[in-house]
Amino acid sequence: MSPTIRPIEARDIAGFHECFDQVAREQRFLASSEAPPLAALCAGLKRVRRVPCRAPGASRAGNPATEGERHLDLELAGMRVAVTGGTAGIGAAIVRGFAQEGAHVAFCSRSAARVAAMTESLTGYPVEARGTVVDVTDADALGGWIEGLGRIDILVPNVSAISPDWAMSIDTDMRATIRATEAAIPLLARSRAPAITYIGSKAATFGTPGHEAYGAAKAAMAHYMKSLSRRLVSRGIRVNTVAPGDVFVEGGFWDRVRQASPADYQETLDANPMGRLATPEEIAHVAVFVSCPRASFVNGAHYLVDGGATDHVQF
Ligand SMILES: NC(=O)c1ccc[n+]([C@@H]2O[C@H](COP(=O)([O-])OP(=O)(O)OC[C@H]3O[C@@H](n4cnc5c(N)ncnc54)[C@H](OP(=O)(O)O)[C@@H]3O)[C@@H](O)[C@H]2O)c1
Repeated sequence: MSPTIRPIEARDIAGFHECFDQVAREQRFLASSEAPPLAALCAGLKRVRRVPCRAPGASRAGNPATEGERHLDLELAGMRVAVTGGTAGIGAAIVRGFAQEGAHVAFCSRSAARVAAMTESLTGYPVEARGTVVDVTDADALGGWIEGLGRIDILVPNVSAISPDWAMSIDTDMRATIRATEAAIPLLARSRAPAITYIGSKAATFGTPGHEAYGAAKAAMAHYMKSLSRRLVSRGIRVNTVAPGDVFVEGGFWDRVRQASPADYQETLDANPMGRLATPEEIAHVAVFVSCPRASFVNGAHYLVDGGATDHVQF
């Protein structure tokens, strides 16, 4: 009777590569002249079933939903996150991403209707969701909102004017980002794993003719965040920038370009090696990870999340 190798079962998926290698080794062994008797082979196959399935350091304890799956716990449950401009596009995806990980979320935007809709959309998550109407260019309102939160573990300054206008870019992208950040620092300093994750842009890293103000403001803020990462490291606060490439947001900038100027939109698609723009979630996933305690050694980084659209080497 020839020995059989058991098929890989669903519970082995997390250890798939280990199983695959083991099966391949056993097949080679069976074909060799050194193959032992059947009883010894069966004992060997039983050992395959005990391949460890957990990612190093990951904990499945108390999480039946992930029992048997490879699961990297981001350790965000119960943390408090503040996101500026969290009711649409990338900001909304970031708010949802944190809520999905069990973090309590506070967010602001100018439109009461958007704040209400976003708050409503989060009712399914077992977290606190606090939406507030704040225009980040209103210094008092912004400062009052941040201070009123009482506790912040993670700050995501996300709002931009996305404008070629210098005054708007300086007020919204620069002044408001600096204000929100500096107001949050005393609160962040009390956290056990504090982080600031600024949403920048690939536009910070190359010339943006016609949109000089936007590119320059993003570059200035990336520089500020880098300096901040050095200034705050002694207080345990990590500071990083996630710089998206072109992101398609329903009703957002590229959606408007698509409708107003299909040729320009096609040119943008052609300039993206993946032949598409990013989804807001693809940016949010990186921002959530960079902010989480698992990214504890990531500090002062500037991550381009652009699908490979920029040519330069990213030192
Ligand atoms: N989309 C892209 O292709 C792309 C590419 C690279 C970088 N980025 C960066 O990603 C970030 C988000 O962009 P997005 O495309 O997701 O923008 P978006 O879709 O226009 O959403 C912007 C969010 O910010 C809020 N907001 C805008 N101005 C505000 C203000 N003055 N005060 C308070 N809230 C304000 C908006 O709500 P209200 O209108 O209700 O205020 C909304 O919630 C920006 O920093 C942008 O530069 C985007």
